[in-house]
Amino acid sequence: MNAGTPVFQRDVVRPILKWAGGKWRIAPKLARILGPQALEALWAPGGDARLVEPFAGSAALTCYVQPLRGLLADANTEIINLYSVCRDRLEALLGEIGQIAAEAESCLGEESFRRYYLDRRDEMNELISKAGDSTSEERTRRAALLLFLNRSCFNGLWRVNSRGEFNVPVGRPAANQPAAFLATTGPRLKRFSRLLQGIALLSGSYEDALKCVGSNDIVYLDPPYDAGDEGSFTSYTSQGFGWQDHQTLFLSVLKILETHPGIRVVVSNSDTERIRALYESRDAKEAGLRVHTIRAPRVIAAQGSRRNSISELVLTNIPPM
Ligand SMILES: C[S@@+](CC[C@H](N)C(=O)[O-])C[C@H]1O[C@@H](n2cnc3c(N)ncnc32)[C@H](O)[C@@H]1O
Repeated sequence: MNAGTPVFQRDVVRPILKWAGGKWRIAPKLARILGPQALEALWAPGGDARLVEPFAGSAALTCYVQPLRGLLADANTEIINLYSVCRDRLEALLGEIGQIAAEAESCLGEESFRRYYLDRRDEMNELISKAGDSTSEERTRRAALLLFLNRSCFNGLWRVNSRGEFNVPVGRPAANQPAAFLATTGPRLKRFSRLLQGIALLSGSYEDALKCVGSNDIVYLDPPYDAGDEGSFTSYTSQGFGWQDHQTLFLSVLKILETHPGIRVVVSNSDTERIRALYESRDAKEAGLRVHTIRAPRVIAAQGSRRNSISELVLTNIPPM
């Protein structure tokens, strides 16, 4: 990849996960808000600017921008495990996926596939329960299972119960196409793996990730949407992400801006009165934060696959072009 090549002229790297709140469709708008200077810094071969995503999810912005250096972090250990295996053990991961796809392919009929899905979900939860001392083979298996479950479950959701067990039911039959899954996933994984070679990974809270940022970094914070917006999905982790978490995040943003002069920060959230009040406050203005409103497609989790377009906020200290 040539660092000077505009992103739209490079091979497209698509996210390997379908993720609630994923930003793939609005990534071009976010990249425009980052602006050409930030993008150049991320593509400069000898530079030290990184794209840091402390709420990585499917890492849509990293996929779209293709920075030479970055940090992806998430409180969901399984996402970071998948990215780590994809980066460092690609061949083993492809082997596991081939095996799962072949087994799924041999399930005759919907009921047989549903049982296969539930067995793989049980296997995943069993492996998660001993994740602390997993072997590298078990970590690879978890990564392959996450991809399979993500592709086959209802709406691509990752939802866990209070014990941290993944509990999403199987999706519509149309989602269960093992051959198509294998055909599209392999090439995507290879491109994503190449991109990940320059990316550090961290499993933990956004606060852990923010401890690692430098003044030349570009930080994109995409927390679970503020639930003030009816229908928002926030149960990615067993702890959830409530109003108090949004307030704490806002204070963390102010602190980062104060302690790292020159750092560029972008935050996404839903367009709710209380998020606007936080980021339009005097403290926010003094820190140089501005509020942009954009339109974004949104899946309403409670209503299955119904999609509509909704107003979202992008809060940033990057001046408009
Ligand atoms: C809206 S999604 C991010 C979507 C991502 N930008 C994308 O394009 O797919 C929010 C993510 O934050 C993660 N998360 C929730 N609470 C967190 C926390 N306290 N620290 C770090 N990550 C957290 C969730 O696991 C989820 O992946």
